[in-house]
Amino acid sequence: MSALLLPVSATLVSAPLRLGPVELPNRLFVAPMAGVTDRPFRMLCKRLGAGYAVSEMVTSKRELWSSLKTSRRANHDGETAPIAVQIAGVDPHEMADAARYNIDRGAQVIDLNMGCPAKKVCNVWAGSALMSNEPLALRIIQAVVAACAPLNVPVTLKMRTGRCASERNAVALARAAESAGVALVTVHGRTREQGYTGLAEYDTIAAVKAALRVPVVANGDIDSPAKALAVLRHTGADALMIGRAAQGRPWIFREIAHFLDTGTTLAPPATKDVSAWMLEHLQDHYGLYGELAGVRTARKHIGWAVRDLPGGEDFRQTMNMLDTCEAQVRAVSEFLGQLEEAHPHWPANAGPHPPCTTRHEPPRHRQLHPQDTATVLPGPGRGDAACRARDDRLRGGEAHAGGGDGAGRRQPEPRSRMAGHQPQYPAAQAA
Ligand SMILES: Cc1cc2nc3c(=O)[nH]c(=O)nc-3n(C[C@H](O)[C@H](O)[C@H](O)COP(=O)(O)O)c2cc1C
Repeated sequence: MSALLLPVSATLVSAPLRLGPVELPNRLFVAPMAGVTDRPFRMLCKRLGAGYAVSEMVTSKRELWSSLKTSRRANHDGETAPIAVQIAGVDPHEMADAARYNIDRGAQVIDLNMGCPAKKVCNVWAGSALMSNEPLALRIIQAVVAACAPLNVPVTLKMRTGRCASERNAVALARAAESAGVALVTVHGRTREQGYTGLAEYDTIAAVKAALRVPVVANGDIDSPAKALAVLRHTGADALMIGRAAQGRPWIFREIAHFLDTGTTLAPPATKDVSAWMLEHLQDHYGLYGELAGVRTARKHIGWAVRDLPGGEDFRQTMNMLDTCEAQVRAVSEFLGQLEEAHPHWPANAGPHPPCTTRHEPPRHRQLHPQDTATVLPGPGRGDAACRARDDRLRGGEAHAGGGDGAGRRQPEPRSRMAGHQPQYPAAQAA
């Protein structure tokens, strides 16, 4: 057990955080992750120490609300309060309607997605693309705040640091959002251009924190208690949001809370406890998705959990061939039962993020020590020029014409307009 002298402020993550009428029990949040943070996973994380969990984004497109996918995303049956729903879209009126629709279905907080780089659900200017269009972003914020205020529902905003390294406008947008009535701002320390490449930087998050009176949440690459402490110290943020590091390791929230509260490292969980959590999670998961989709989508959660275990990769491959709930549960139960005999405590606690599943993942096993809060800021360069050129083309409606590289040279158009423009989320499907 390592002991560490902690600043008083670092212990604040265990303190409640008030958002208008809603009280969050602590300041460790699960990041919204499409295809991952469904209701069963959010509940698992809350049970294991997360104070708050935002749903996967729900589109503002009314015609999609009755789709199976959206209705599953809007499912909050039995979910521990507070219930927060993230909405994504580009039309202020549609976004206001989407907010009201989700409030009718139990949302107590509405989160606006201005951080998503994915094409699939958002169209060109939705998600993080809105950061490049501050007037539209602000109109959306104002419309949603106006819809939510009479219902006493706080509105929060999730964004990136900016469009690209040379255009980080998070502070300006966050200030405008605060003036428009947003109750909390989360900043993922990457630009839209970065997608999931490179490393998150925390200077911009610190600047946003310094500029706002409402709470600011730091997000990006927090994958261990030591990193959580370093990010808190560097940014002065009011709360931390954790995404990928919770995949397969949802107990990271209580590990971080314990470390920040006591300065000591929590022992790895008992293998039998992890086994019980996983099996309960599976049952809850099947309950939401049914057998066919349930078995298939559960594979990624199981894969993330076992991948660092002895024999984990072989098990993952075998398990991927099973197609009934019963067979999947039996396999997991047997595998973890055998593991428990050799390892009464979970043996795979050292790795931070689950290993790379796509080329967008940051390097593994990166540790930022409390005293080592150096940030990595990609300097202006080809990426910035390309970023500008692409956005200029989109603004000018020339998406299908060849563009320049910012220096007057023509470049071949990417295969799809978005293929070279919008990085996708790391695959959540692949275990
Ligand atoms: C599979 C996946 C899906 C995501 N889906 C969303 C989403 O629906 N809304 C959103 O605001 N961010 C989404 N994100 C971004 C995360 O919320 C978070 O900002 C990002 O992963 C950085 O945090 P981390 O380093 O702790 O993972 C997603 C990320 C991943 C990996």
